[in-house]
Amino acid sequence: MARKKIVAGNWKMNTLPAEGVELAKSVVAGRGEVCECVNFIVCPPFTHLSQVVEAVKGSDIAVGAQDCATEAKGAYTGEIAAQMIAALGCKYVILGHSERRQYYGETSETLNKKMAQAYANGLTPIYCVGENLEEREAGNHFAVCKAQIEEVVFNLTEEQFANLVIAYEPVWAIGTGKTATAEQAQEIHAYIREVLRSKFGAAAEECPILYGGSCKPSNAAEIFAKEDVDGGLIGGAALVAGDFLAIGKGF
Ligand code: PGA
Repeated sequence: MARKKIVAGNWKMNTLPAEGVELAKSVVAGRGEVCECVNFIVCPPFTHLSQVVEAVKGSDIAVGAQDCATEAKGAYTGEIAAQMIAALGCKYVILGHSERRQYYGETSETLNKKMAQAYANGLTPIYCVGENLEEREAGNHFAVCKAQIEEVVFNLTEEQFANLVIAYEPVWAIGTGKTATAEQAQEIHAYIREVLRSKFGAAAEECPILYGGSCKPSNAAEIFAKEDVDGGLIGGAALVAGDFLAIGKGF
């Protein structure tokens, strides 16, 4: 069985509500130019999730949040619960993005709780892993990704694992214009799948593993052509509808 092909846009802290709606509508308008086999997901800021859900209504474009709280509800000022995200009509949530790990101190412990909240509310996590430059240069990228998977993904049930997307995002390639070569991406994606296989067996063959890190129309096709790369988690290029869609044409 062929794995799901996914192109997900992580808008990060960009777009005002009206701009986000405009961007989502442009993606919907151009979607027909790209193979139906590609699953598009857009992940706007919390403030306009509901307007973007409305803007993509009637299309096959899914909406995701960029994070969720560790707790279900209650006195957690400033937090957004997975239940709230799901209630808006979102299907996905990005968890463990390197910017959250790096700037907001997210650990495997926090992420285990967030994953549990996501699943409890029917959201599919897009769980991010990846090494920084120092770790890559020291040859530790395999060990770093393995630990990030073992400490979180290995706690999932088989049923939860069947509903998981993984994104490999080398921190040194995020927003830097530097991209992992297609060979580097394939090498580590295959490794990640092997780690997943050691725990979940054949189900690992079904798990989409996305590449993220300066993925753009000019390099998407080469990266997506690799056997274990099932799409991309796109930052900067997801803010331009034409580029985001053109990345989908990379399949
Ligand atoms: P980038 O970001 O495409 O701007 O490098 C990717 C990401 O962080 O998800």
